[in-house]
Amino acid sequence: MRIVCIGGGPAGLYFGLLMKRRHPEHSITVVERNKPYDTFGWGVVFSDAMMRAMRAADPESAKEIADAFNHWDDIELIFKGTRQRTTGHGFIGIGRKQLLNILQRRCEEVGVELAFEQDAKSDLQFPDADLIVAADGINSRIRERYADAFRPDLVVRPNRYIWLGTRKLFDAFTFDFRRTENGWFQAHIYKFDRDTSTFIVETTEDTFAAHRLDQLDQEGSIAFCEGIFAETLGGASLMTNARHLRGSAWLNFNRLICGAWSHFNGRSHVVLMGDAAHTAHFAIGSGTKLALDDAIELAKQFDALGHGREHVAPALAAYEDVRRVDVARIQNAARNAMEWFEVVGRRYADTMEPEQFFYSMLTRSQRISHENLRLRDPHWLEGYERWFARRAGLTVSNDERPLPPMLTPYRVRGLSLANRIVVSPMAMYSAKDGLISDFHIAHLGARAMGGAGLVFAEMTCVSPEARITPGCLGLWNESQQREWKRLVDLIHSVGHAKAGVQLGHAGRKGSTRVAWDGIDQPLNHDNWPLLSASALSYLPHGQVPRAMDRADMDKVRDDFVAATRRAAAAGVDWLELHCAHGYLLSSFLSPLTNVRQDEYGGGHENRARYPLEVFRAIRAVWPEDRPISVRLSCNDWTAGGNTPDDAEIFAAMFKAAGADMIDCSSGQVSKAERPVYGRLFQTPFSDQIRNEAQIATIAVGAISEADHANSILAAGRADLCAIARPHLADPAWTLHEAARIGINAISWPKQYAAAKGQYEANLARAAAGAEAK
Ligand SMILES: Cc1cc2nc3c(=O)[nH]c(=O)nc-3n(C[C@H](O)[C@H](O)[C@H](O)COP(=O)(O)OP(=O)(O)OC[C@H]3O[C@@H](n4cnc5c(N)ncnc54)[C@H](O)[C@@H]3O)c2cc1C
Ligand SMILES: Cc1cc2nc3c(=O)[nH]c(=O)nc-3n(C[C@H](O)[C@H](O)[C@H](O)COP(=O)(O)O)c2cc1C
Repeated sequence: MRIVCIGGGPAGLYFGLLMKRRHPEHSITVVERNKPYDTFGWGVVFSDAMMRAMRAADPESAKEIADAFNHWDDIELIFKGTRQRTTGHGFIGIGRKQLLNILQRRCEEVGVELAFEQDAKSDLQFPDADLIVAADGINSRIRERYADAFRPDLVVRPNRYIWLGTRKLFDAFTFDFRRTENGWFQAHIYKFDRDTSTFIVETTEDTFAAHRLDQLDQEGSIAFCEGIFAETLGGASLMTNARHLRGSAWLNFNRLICGAWSHFNGRSHVVLMGDAAHTAHFAIGSGTKLALDDAIELAKQFDALGHGREHVAPALAAYEDVRRVDVARIQNAARNAMEWFEVVGRRYADTMEPEQFFYSMLTRSQRISHENLRLRDPHWLEGYERWFARRAGLTVSNDERPLPPMLTPYRVRGLSLANRIVVSPMAMYSAKDGLISDFHIAHLGARAMGGAGLVFAEMTCVSPEARITPGCLGLWNESQQREWKRLVDLIHSVGHAKAGVQLGHAGRKGSTRVAWDGIDQPLNHDNWPLLSASALSYLPHGQVPRAMDRADMDKVRDDFVAATRRAAAAGVDWLELHCAHGYLLSSFLSPLTNVRQDEYGGGHENRARYPLEVFRAIRAVWPEDRPISVRLSCNDWTAGGNTPDDAEIFAAMFKAAGADMIDCSSGQVSKAERPVYGRLFQTPFSDQIRNEAQIATIAVGAISEADHANSILAAGRADLCAIARPHLADPAWTLHEAARIGINAISWPKQYAAAKGQYEANLARAAAGAEAK
């Protein structure tokens, strides 16, 4: 075959090399517009796993690369006058020039033709090529030429960065955060050869503009950065080698995803590789890895399918199939890390203490969890857990294993929770006339014995017409209050758990069947009339609610107040106001369900007016020493609906009205929603609200392991974690998860104590067995 790689970066060179070394009969040319030793950039970072893959692909270049590598284990943070360090992270750095030179030499050795100083104007310049690899980087001309086929989706990210170097050597991957009068600058610093370190400086667009950095040339920018990081540089200077860039050399990162990676131009197959096909932000430093992995995979597909012309199309299809999955995974992690750096100043750096800030930074991609950090640096992690536990009020000696974050106590107003795990409210549709039944006593009693600090019963409705279904709980009469007291007394008598009630009104989602008879479907008979912010039905064939008038508002507010008084009298410890999931109060907050023209519709203040009125009314009668949380749908997942930014605004309003916490849920407001599910998928909403609106939060949604909860709490992404479905599967989730992470210092109900030691021993044995394998 005749193969032309346009672009002599890591992708083009490595693919040329791998194909030629295995099949010398191919004629392969790499076309590069720069001179042989002329390249941008300083060092690149790899992992040990990448080296293994390269050793298998071409042992000769892998050996040279490994010999040239600088290996280091530590990450250091310089922040607010402190220096913190952790180890066990395993990076390798190499100069980009050195890497390319090794690959260039190997290409020459195996007979790849390297054509430098040739700017390829088009793929049609190579009409005899069977395969053209567009490895021409992020600004790929070839990709743009066939944009209709490749469907690039390019997003220019808001932060600015400048890629510099310094002769000062750093023995750890170092992050340095500095605040100026206009905002934060951060430096990402790592050594990559015997006498040079990469020094990338990043800031937000606002801070960039406020310092008028766009008006400085490269020298001016360098002098500015030297001033900001003078203490860390200790007299060393910064350097640029981005001669190819005009102007200030401050760049925006471009995030790229392509709809297709290959195209037939009428003569040749054209395939995208490396940065031409996808990008990953330098916050996780994997762009070069992705480029090399692409090259390895395509060469592998030719080996598997055959090296003839007829194999090009199937090889390209198989390459894209395999690589897409891995690229999506890395882009996901890179997106989390990138977004962390985009908001770091206002969200974390301004307010967090250095210890928690460091933890948050280390877990920014959300690929590294709490237990993962323990594997890397157990001593550091235990120190952090000790810091967290002490801040939560525990006395921990320096030689004692501290309790992990989820098992530390939490205090709000006059209430102390024994730990930070919450049984999330879950409708059971098993009440008659709104009354707590034996089922609820058994169900919630079991969960109260299961270790969680707070046990919520399901949404409890403030009037018969406020119910979702005829099977929902209520709190509008004496007998319901009496049964609630029985439940609360039981919860208090069997362990440390506190009892929570979630008060709600179904609004336009009321008068429906119990879940197992058709969720959200109208009742077959005995429907009751519905109220909502506007006269819009939830389902096309559902009942159309009446838009509430002022008299309705007064009545419903008073129902909430009466139910609150009853909950207080029943001894309930915690009240949550349900303003989520499209129910009545949520229907006011969302522009999808609130189209009112009066003072209760329109902007944020108007849409929140009635929910806040209800909140203030219940806060006024709820005992001063007991907390109230508010559950919000932090994302409607529908165009035109509320976004996390809207939720942040509402959270600040509820905070000002006296709310203690926001319970950060999402969705169920519109049938048109397109939620993006996944592990911890709602935690980013909690993170944003907690750290920007500065109100305590509950994270909920696909949190299913102790490791998840500990990672969230330790990083300050929430104050409590609510666990719903896992508690249906396992009432003793907290006790079992504690045992699974080796924590024995948690008490089981005395009646069950005999099982504890055996359970823990079995888990320890299973873990030891798994490790031995
Ligand atoms: C600040 C920063 C830090 C980074 N840090 C890391 C890191 O630590 N680790 C990491 O793995 N990655 C890192 N990267 C990403 C990494 O540099 C790229 O992902 C990687 O170089 C992609 O390789 P590539 O071969 O696809 O493209 P490139 O390396 O961009 O190579 C493309 C080549 O094509 C040539 N070319 C373009 N057009 C033409 C044409 N028309 N004719 C001829 N030649 C052409 C260019 O001159 C260039 O040499 C970083 C990137 C940035 C911006
Ligand atoms: C059976 C069931 C009933 C639920 N009922 C309620 C409810 O009454 N009130 C509420 O706010 N959320 C309710 N939810 C949502 C949960 O509280 C929780 O937010 C959601 O299930 C995500 O958490 P998970 O991934 O841990 O299950 C319910 C969830 C389930 C599975």
